[in-house]
Amino acid sequence: MSDTQQAPDRNLAMDLARVTEAAALAAARFIGRGDKNAADGAAVDAMRLVLNTVAMDGVVVIGEGEKDEAPMLFNGERIGTGGPACDIAVDPIDGTTLTSLGRNNAIAVIALSERGTMFNPGPCVYMEKIAVGPEARDVIDLNAPVKANLEAVAKAKGGRIQDVTAIVLDRDRHQRIIKECREAGAMIRLITDGDVMGALETAWPDSGADILFGVGGTPEGVIAACALKSLGGEIQGRLVARDENEKRQALDAGYDLKQVLTSDDLVAGEDVFFAATGVTEGDILRGVRYQGDKASTETLVMRSKTGTIRRIIATHRLEKLKRQSRVDY
Ligand code: FBP
Repeated sequence: MSDTQQAPDRNLAMDLARVTEAAALAAARFIGRGDKNAADGAAVDAMRLVLNTVAMDGVVVIGEGEKDEAPMLFNGERIGTGGPACDIAVDPIDGTTLTSLGRNNAIAVIALSERGTMFNPGPCVYMEKIAVGPEARDVIDLNAPVKANLEAVAKAKGGRIQDVTAIVLDRDRHQRIIKECREAGAMIRLITDGDVMGALETAWPDSGADILFGVGGTPEGVIAACALKSLGGEIQGRLVARDENEKRQALDAGYDLKQVLTSDDLVAGEDVFFAATGVTEGDILRGVRYQGDKASTETLVMRSKTGTIRRIIATHRLEKLKRQSRVDY
């Protein structure tokens, strides 16, 4: 392996924390201000600036979309100052609406793995998902009915279905899932947005969440797989085409819309990094707090190879940040 083709090094974790901190700090100025695009734009700008200082040879596999619609952090963009060859998935804000309305659990998030190991969803924007924590990782089946999965999770965790809490995005398309959970006797936590954090919570000790069901974004599915790799959980996904045109594009590009994709299919790497910083207040991460000339952030950084999980509470001096990054925090 040449110098420029090394595997990702451990200090990338701290670099990635700086990347999501910058995005969260920029986004947080827009909390509750009703403009989700402005929040997202600020997060993208800040994330990209810091990401470009990281010593890696990164390719954005999951970005903000195609180059013509996303001038920055577009799919396929090369990023970093050179170094280990990596795939990168970014979501400068998962929960743009959560941010614009000041609701809980918006995060700035990034994941990184060895080059060529991250799943590229191509034209497919949505994915059917089921995600769980370590105890239930071997018992879920996307092809099985909701009740069977709830039963399997309950058994794996040593309880009854009544003890199981399912996280589901509050969408009309999930009425059947919600009905089946209710009929089976499980509890439900309906979330309005943010299924990366929803999936992560199923594997987070004491979160009170056991399983995530439903259709959400494919980028968020890949990023959730990166998080669950470190936490020992599992996600299964299946691409969903929104219409005939998207279906044709996906089939022409060689995607199998029936295939159940496992965590390993979504990210095959052995050395996967994940970093998330709270934008708004959250169940696991607190949000950005501004106070005078300082701001504080809370970040979760994980590495699958070592299983290291860090929570970093940082205080930032705004003047210094502004000078370094030219972003108006
Ligand atoms: P944004 O931050 O891009 O708005 O995405 C939020 C989100 O809730 C994701 O977490 C989720 O995967 C997706 O949107 C669901 O899509 P939709 O809102 O179209 O149902």
